[in-house]
Amino acid sequence: MLKPLVIANWKMNPTTLRAARALFSRVRRGIRGARGIEIAIAPPFPYLGFIQPGRGLTLAAQDVFWEPVGAWTGEVSPAMLCDLGVRYCIIGHSERRKNFGESDEAVNRKIKAALKFGLIPVIAVGEETPESQEVVPPILFQQLSRALLGIPKRWLGRTVIAYEPVWAIGSGKPDTPDNATRRAIYIRKLLIRILGRRIADAIRIIYGGSVNAQNAASFLSRDIRGMEGLLVGGASLDAEEFIRIVQSVAARPHCR
Ligand code: PGA
Repeated sequence: MLKPLVIANWKMNPTTLRAARALFSRVRRGIRGARGIEIAIAPPFPYLGFIQPGRGLTLAAQDVFWEPVGAWTGEVSPAMLCDLGVRYCIIGHSERRKNFGESDEAVNRKIKAALKFGLIPVIAVGEETPESQEVVPPILFQQLSRALLGIPKRWLGRTVIAYEPVWAIGSGKPDTPDNATRRAIYIRKLLIRILGRRIADAIRIIYGGSVNAQNAASFLSRDIRGMEGLLVGGASLDAEEFIRIVQSVAARPHCR
């Protein structure tokens, strides 16, 4: 099993650099003892350059554009993120798909661009509503196969897939751990079909959607390769809560 990855997605919070720095340093202090786990913070773009990764924390971006440089007002290039020491990049988050009309094609272009610059894409997929069991697999298949279309397989070895049922995001109603594990198993099978076993095995699948300190550890399977990490939104804005999430994941037996 791979080392679990916990990503804090701050979204468009907090509203001042001072508050962002304070949140970051509280988290940095709090996670000091956590072993066998990788932790990434995804702050809004303007704060990336002010937050120093290291000592157990890596940096993630919440989005990226597909062009490296040029006349693209308002966009942020993968070259810039790379230069700032960013390691992970969330791509295709449902809030981008829904509110900014981000298509599977755009997601695909962003993934390619991120990989070219050595960033690790965290590709977000998930169904909109609590669909019946039969409908979710084709939705995930479509999102994933389109996201990965035409990308050389050998580039995809370190990629992360974030399964986030859209209805569970920010709703306080997370998916059940059993269901999340079933989804992880299905996604792994899809990846094996698309990329072959060797590459698929190197990919981490993580869960996102109303994760908090109480439920965090329950999403990580102990015996089989299910979810191997978490994408945390709301709960990552409260330093103490996020630290408890990290500690509960680090305390899982497979992390030792
Ligand atoms: P949430 O958000 O933890 O607030 O549900 C998760 C996400 O959107 O990545």
